Amino acid sequence: MSDPTGPIPAAQCVLITGGTKGLGLELVRDTLAQGAKVATFSRSLTPEIEALRKEHPDRLFVASLDINDEAGAKTFLKDASAALGPIDSLVNNAAIGQDSMHLHTSPERIAQIVQTNLTAPLILTRAFIRHAMAKVGRGRIVMVTSICAQRGYSGLVAYSATKGGLDSAMRTLAREMHGRFMVNSVAPGFFDSEMSSVLGTEQLSTIARRTPSGRMVTPTNIAPVVRSLLFDDTNMNGQVVVIDGGGSI
Ligand SMILES: NC(=O)c1ccc[n+]([C@@H]2O[C@H](COP(=O)([O-])OP(=O)(O)OC[C@H]3O[C@@H](n4cnc5c(N)ncnc54)[C@H](OP(=O)(O)O)[C@@H]3O)[C@@H](O)[C@H]2O)c1
Repeated sequence: MSDPTGPIPAAQCVLITGGTKGLGLELVRDTLAQGAKVATFSRSLTPEIEALRKEHPDRLFVASLDINDEAGAKTFLKDASAALGPIDSLVNNAAIGQDSMHLHTSPERIAQIVQTNLTAPLILTRAFIRHAMAKVGRGRIVMVTSICAQRGYSGLVAYSATKGGLDSAMRTLAREMHGRFMVNSVAPGFFDSEMSSVLGTEQLSTIARRTPSGRMVTPTNIAPVVRSLLFDDTNMNGQVVVIDGGGSI
């Protein structure tokens, strides 16, 4: 166990949820490129994650799992750490989107969004902390939230609530963990992925045009910030880092 008063060691084994496509896949690639081990899951696997698994059989553990399956998530932690060794860091990336006005969103859909994007990540974070406390003592947690937690966007009421909830939980967790775990959020603006494909090309080009940097964010813009939170000694704790090309300023 590392000195509890010194800097938290760089991540060695990271659980990244939803690492099979979109931003999660980029984070898996980037974390492997730093030499760390990665455990990831999503409901269905993709050719891209299968190819990475072939490339890094000893450093990448992949399983098919719904984050809402609490017992399955505990088994995943056990199996992943048996394969890779203790997991010291967590990136809560998996989430589902929304594209419906609140008035037209059924109570069942609201409950599903809150369950998947807020309740399940909080339960997984608890299981992860228990694991990491027992096995390594210290670690790092990154929540992938959204600019929607800070600015209003039509059609994203329940989704925004979950991201704001995660940002709030992140701050309080950072305080509770008292330096044993560095806990931060990254809050991207809109980027091109399956989740944002509900936005038409016209909406996406409007977002790009209104962004001060002149272009939308990409997963490769977000990965270096997550990398820093996982590997560098920044002493950054309890913060939300917005990555949106200045779209929200
Ligand atoms: N795209 C944007 O414009 C945008 C902007 C700001 C923030 N974000 C956030 O960035 C993160 C990544 O988004 P993305 O755009 O890369 O989304 P994406 O392409 O839809 O990927 C989401 C990932 O999460 C997994 N996932 C979804 N539901 C799951 C469940 N119930 N259990 C396990 N895994 C699940 C998906 O795999 P399966 O579907 O196979 O389960 C997939 O691997 C999310 O937290 C999102 O809220 C996105």
